[in-house]
Amino acid sequence: MNYPYVTEFRHSLVEWFNAEKRDLPWRHTTDPYKIWVSEVMLQQTRVDTVIPYYNRFMESFPTLDLLAEAPQDYLLKHWEGLGYYSRVRNLQAGAREVLENYGGVVPDNRHEISKLKGVGPYTAGAILSIAYNKPEHAVDGNVMRVLSRVLNINEDIAVPKTKKIFEAAVEELIDPTNASSFNQGLMELGALICTPTSPKCLLCPVREYCTAFNEGEPEKLPVKSKKMKMKHLSYNILVCQDEQGRFLMEQRPEEGLLAKLWQFPMIDTTSQITEESFLKECFINVQARHELLSFKHVFSHLTWHINSYYMKCKSSSTGDWFTQEQIEQLPMPVPMLKIWEEVKNNK
Ligand code: ADE
Repeated sequence: MNYPYVTEFRHSLVEWFNAEKRDLPWRHTTDPYKIWVSEVMLQQTRVDTVIPYYNRFMESFPTLDLLAEAPQDYLLKHWEGLGYYSRVRNLQAGAREVLENYGGVVPDNRHEISKLKGVGPYTAGAILSIAYNKPEHAVDGNVMRVLSRVLNINEDIAVPKTKKIFEAAVEELIDPTNASSFNQGLMELGALICTPTSPKCLLCPVREYCTAFNEGEPEKLPVKSKKMKMKHLSYNILVCQDEQGRFLMEQRPEEGLLAKLWQFPMIDTTSQITEESFLKECFINVQARHELLSFKHVFSHLTWHINSYYMKCKSSSTGDWFTQEQIEQLPMPVPMLKIWEEVKNNK
């Protein structure tokens, strides 16, 4: 970056954002609670996916107080299908901290806001700049891509400490009086123009100031080392229905992947436990059995290979058995929802 151009760069970016920004639901508010929710949803999730979730969330939890007191299953149900479920549990914990420690007002400085559960440097900067118009950096993957090109930064963005370089660059570049539009402008540029492949440089409002455009190879940036290797796990999933029409469900552990979501019993095909030993352990007598779906489900670094089975069972007094209506209220992982739809269609 040629720092003599910093005023022009800011001006071009902010003007472009104000003229071209997409009409998104969280852009009709500066309520820090609502900005917080939107930013947490937008981590690792595309804008188009987030919109209906955000709208539904705000209908059910229009204020921080209502989020703080929401029952856990009801809250998780609003996140069902978004993935990375610890995000919403942290969000609720953070909202409770705001009530307890800050009188219900989301802090307007980096020191305090960063103490809240789940609020990292990006989320802190996004809330401070978008809700409070404070000149604070909010650097995510999109912003690193844009600035690596504009400023010709060749550091590997897969290495965590590289982010600091970009945060320092934003601190120098950010428009002190238009922090909200500046940061959102960088995000919007990354989403609409400065895309990973085939960036639309001819439509870019800051191409004059962009090193990669001037040197001719923007697609070569950012530098990003290889992704983690995919892990594969194989499961048999048992949909057990008793004579009263109820289904056996289990809740996942408090920590880890899909924590606290509900599922039909899953048997790891490489474990000691077999279908027979599981059923015996639960005192379940199977009267009829047929195959349901076989499919794979891909998480970020993990693939589940699933075979699912329906079983008509004799009553058992152990385990959590739920009616169809009760199951509809439970938060479930996407592969379970898929199996559940199949069960209902087969009736
Ligand atoms: N990605 C992250 N934050 C965003 C925002 N506020 N608007 C659009 N996309 C985003």
